[in-house]
Amino acid sequence: MDLPRHVGLLVKRIGVTGGALCRTLVTACSARRSPERSSCRRPLTARYSSAASVSACRALLYRNHGDPAQVVQLESMELPALDEKSVLVKMMAAPINPSDINMVQGTYAILPDLPAVGGNEGVGVVLEVGSQVTTLRAGDWIIPRNAGLGTWRTAAVFGEEVLTPVPNDIPLMAAATLGVNPCTAFRMLSDFEALKPGDSVIQNAANSGVGQAVIQIAAARGVHTINVVRDRPDLQQLTENLQALGAGHVITEESLRKPQMKELFRKVPRPKLALNGVGGKSATELLRHLQAGGTMVTYGGMAKQPVTVPVSALIFKDVKVRGFWVSQWKRDHAQDRGALQGMLVQLCDLIRDGKLTAPACTVMWDHARALGNAMKPFLSRKQVLVM
Ligand SMILES: NC(=O)c1ccc[n+]([C@@H]2O[C@H](COP(=O)([O-])OP(=O)(O)OC[C@H]3O[C@@H](n4cnc5c(N)ncnc54)[C@H](OP(=O)(O)O)[C@@H]3O)[C@@H](O)[C@H]2O)c1
Repeated sequence: MDLPRHVGLLVKRIGVTGGALCRTLVTACSARRSPERSSCRRPLTARYSSAASVSACRALLYRNHGDPAQVVQLESMELPALDEKSVLVKMMAAPINPSDINMVQGTYAILPDLPAVGGNEGVGVVLEVGSQVTTLRAGDWIIPRNAGLGTWRTAAVFGEEVLTPVPNDIPLMAAATLGVNPCTAFRMLSDFEALKPGDSVIQNAANSGVGQAVIQIAAARGVHTINVVRDRPDLQQLTENLQALGAGHVITEESLRKPQMKELFRKVPRPKLALNGVGGKSATELLRHLQAGGTMVTYGGMAKQPVTVPVSALIFKDVKVRGFWVSQWKRDHAQDRGALQGMLVQLCDLIRDGKLTAPACTVMWDHARALGNAMKPFLSRKQVLVM
C-alpha cells in the first residue's frame, strides 16, 4: 500500500481515536493529497504559523524497563515553556527501530533516565523558536542530532543544539528514517575499505532498514552487493523487492554455506567488505567469503549470538574485524557540524534522484500494534508512528 493511501487511512483512524494534536498534524499531511501534491513533501510553514495553543503533547512513555508491549503507555504531558535557546517542535513521524526496543527493554548502550519518552529518530516541524536560536526557524523540518531524544510524541520543546535541519522537499518517510540507518550504511560503505565501482560487498540482514540503504547507496556507487536474508515463504517476493532497489544477488543464510557460492564468485569479485547486523553463524559465514585483507564490520547483533572468527580467516587471510556505532560517530563529530550535514546533503541528493528510498513502512498511531509488529520476524516492514 502506498504512503498517501496509508496516511489517508490513518487520518480516518486518528480522526476517531487520536488526540487533537495528532489529528491536526495528520490532517495537515493528508490535506496535501491532491494528485499534484501527493507525498507529504511540501513545507508546512504557513500551516503552523500559530503555535500558541501547543502547550501539551501526547507521548509514548515508559516508567520501567521491560517488554515494550507492557511498559509503554500513551500519556498526556505538559510541555515546558520555550526559552531563548529552545525550539517548539511538532513531531510528524517516528519509526520504531530495534535500538528503540532495546532501550525500552533496558539492554541498550544508552539508557535515558526514567520515566522516558521512547524513540530515537523521527522528523518534526519547527513551530516556534526562542529569541537566541540561530540555526532553525518556524517551518523547518528537523531530525535529532543523536540518539536519546524521545521522538514518540506529538510535540516537544528541544534545545536547538540537539536538532539538525533536513530539507522539506523529500518524502516524509524518507526524512523520518534518514538519521540512523542510511547514515549507518553511508559510513560503513565509506570509512572501512576504499571501494571502487565493480567491487563487491556482502551483508546479512539485507532486508533490514540498514540493509536496504546499503543496497541502494552501494548501487549508486557502482558497487555490487551480495545480500543474505533468512529463508521464508515469500522469499521470491522479497528477492524481487531487494533487486528492485539494486541488489545484485540475494541468497539465503543456508545457501551461504553451500559450495554453489563458488559459482557466484565467478560473476562478482569476492567482497572487500562484509557488513554484519546479525552475529553468530551468519557472521562467521560472511567472514569465510571475504577477500584476503578484507574487513568485516559488525553493527548489529539481531541473533544475539557472539561473533566467532575462524582462525584460518585471521592467519591465512588477515581479515580485519571491526565495529561501527553511528551514535559514536555522531558524538565524535559533534563539533564538526559540516560532517553530519555533508552526509545528509549527499543522502538527500540520492533521495531526490530516486536512488535512495525509505524502507517499506507500515504507518500507524496504534502504538501497541506497531510495537508488537516491530518485534515480529520476517515482516520486512519498518513500523512508523505518524502523529
Ligand atoms: N551500529 C549502528 O550504528 C546501528 C545503526 C542502525 C541499526 N543498527 C542495528 O542494525 C540492526 C538492524 O537495524 P534495522 O533498523 O535496519 O532493522 P529492521 O529494519 O528492524 O530489520 C530487522 C532485521 O533483523 C533481521 N533479524 C531479526 N531477528 C533476526 C535473527 N534472529 N537472525 C537473523 N536476522 C534477524 C530481520 O530479518 P527477518 O526479516 O528475517 O526477520 C531484519 O532483516 C539492529 O541490530 C540495529 O540495532 C545499528
